[in-house]
Amino acid sequence: RNLSVKDVCFIGAGYVGGPTAAVLALHNPAVTVEVVDRDPHRIQQWKSPHLPVHEPGLDALVRAVRKDSEEETQSASQRQQNLVFSCESARALAKADIIFMAVNTPTKMFGVGAGCATNMTAFDGAMRDVATYAKAGAIIVEKSTVPGGTADRVRKMLAASRPGVPFEVLSNPEFLAEGSAIENLTTPDRVLIGSAATPSGRQAARTLASLYTAWVPSDRILETNTWSSELAKLVANAMLAQRISSINSISAICERTGAEVDQVAKAIGLDARIGPQFLKAGLGFGGSCFRKDIASLAYLAESLGLDDVAEYWRQVNTMNERQRDRFAHKVISRFDGNLVGHKLAILGFAFKKNTGDTRESLAADVIRVLLEERPSEIAIFDPFCRADDIMRELKTVCPDVSERDVVKIHTDPYLACSQAHAILVVTDCDQFRNTPGKKPIWTHNSNFVQSCAADCTDCRAHSTRPTTEAIEWPRIAYNMVEPKWVFDGRGLLDVAELEKLGVRVDSVGRRT
Ligand code: NAD
Ligand code: UGA
Repeated sequence: RNLSVKDVCFIGAGYVGGPTAAVLALHNPAVTVEVVDRDPHRIQQWKSPHLPVHEPGLDALVRAVRKDSEEETQSASQRQQNLVFSCESARALAKADIIFMAVNTPTKMFGVGAGCATNMTAFDGAMRDVATYAKAGAIIVEKSTVPGGTADRVRKMLAASRPGVPFEVLSNPEFLAEGSAIENLTTPDRVLIGSAATPSGRQAARTLASLYTAWVPSDRILETNTWSSELAKLVANAMLAQRISSINSISAICERTGAEVDQVAKAIGLDARIGPQFLKAGLGFGGSCFRKDIASLAYLAESLGLDDVAEYWRQVNTMNERQRDRFAHKVISRFDGNLVGHKLAILGFAFKKNTGDTRESLAADVIRVLLEERPSEIAIFDPFCRADDIMRELKTVCPDVSERDVVKIHTDPYLACSQAHAILVVTDCDQFRNTPGKKPIWTHNSNFVQSCAADCTDCRAHSTRPTTEAIEWPRIAYNMVEPKWVFDGRGLLDVAELEKLGVRVDSVGRRT
């Protein structure tokens, strides 16, 4: 039973706001969930058949709960239709009982704390809208990942701009991982709610909890104070990232000895106190969150005068950068320092499998190093990324790059790899595996959606093709050019099987 919540508003229709709002709407049919964003294009995409975010299960979920236009509503009145996307924040905020702040909080790149602190421009801008339009008694929820102490700061800001008006500010960080967002939201390990240690603060926490208990067992809902909740989010990401940097540091040792990193990871992961997750060695962690959240944690420690604590956590990021640098330089050294006249194919550009998110792509950094060696071509294939997202991300690390010269983006893996001297597996997509017997089905290639007309209202043709299976490595290997190197940056490939096809394989964390 939700405690008299009728209207919920999410500010920020991104990777977190959209999927979280959809799951909340599904399980609370009596609540209207409106997602607002300042970017009209993004809102248009959420209303269209081609959502701006690729997540397994998301399309079907949004179709099930999204409110359609009036004509469509007539024919689909059986559906729930309590999820709304719009740019009308003033109206949506004015009626909301609960407001989730789900805007981006990247690293600040200017002024005090540049490169470490959190850039709160978007968050504070959205908060100004909340302060202007929210109704008295609204509960404001930090869903974005924010620096510790933000709830206290927001409370003071609201007290100054709306004196005497009661608001409660909660911290409710999100722990979903991209590529498994719907699964994570549907069966979360925990839901964390931080509140003020006052009767009204606790009451607000109970009200928010009542939305979650519609589908989350109440023993998975953890209540803390707001500082603990804010800090726990940063620490959860830092600890996960730390495991990746730790195993990657061991992969460097393995590459110079006879040990194999996957065997080491398995052996240590069987210790119940260590556990098997997040011990997959690779190119390091990419994505929009781990690096920036560690930077934020280190900045917090530094601002508290805890320089050794800050340095400890910064090392996790440093190790991470070195890992992909080491990989790129290994490729160069396999070609005796000369990539001129060689074609390299990159399999995977997103920061991990099952997502089209190119933010802080590992591939972009690797390509930046390789481009300095002037190869004849770098061909990129990713099953989920759009070409314009790839180019945008690439330009953030190589501003001069242009698709017309060396870099080419393909929608067909066989074309990307044809006549390549080397193939680099950069993303852990199951489609790139060569394990015999495992043939995952490709569901939806968003590259094809790009060619869809802007006013397309029926995407069935696009969403069903190509239903390609795992790539056929014999075909890829046959069309390569000597010296036929395959660099497995994710420890994804069965090396012995691949070598049977006449290619040389260099895999992370193994001596070749
Ligand atoms: P995103 O960039 O995909 O989405 C943020 C959205 O907020 C954008 O669409 C932007 O236009 C909108 N926005 C910014 N300012 C606005 C304003 N004033 N009014 C209305 N809309 C505004 O970001 P994201 O990946 O969804 O991340 C959001 C937050 O969640 C971040 O703090 C992030 O650290 C955290 N988080 C992200 C993930 C993830 O997997 N991406 C997981 C957990 C937590
Ligand atoms: C991560 C956390 O897992 C989420 O709990 C958190 O909510 C989110 O950050 C966030 O705050 O944004 P995400 O970055 O989406 O989620 O994806 P992960 O699965 O954590 O992977 C991050 C990176 O680490 C990827 O590049 C992935 O390939 C890499 N990774 C992951 C490894 O190299 N090895 C591993 O064992 C696991």
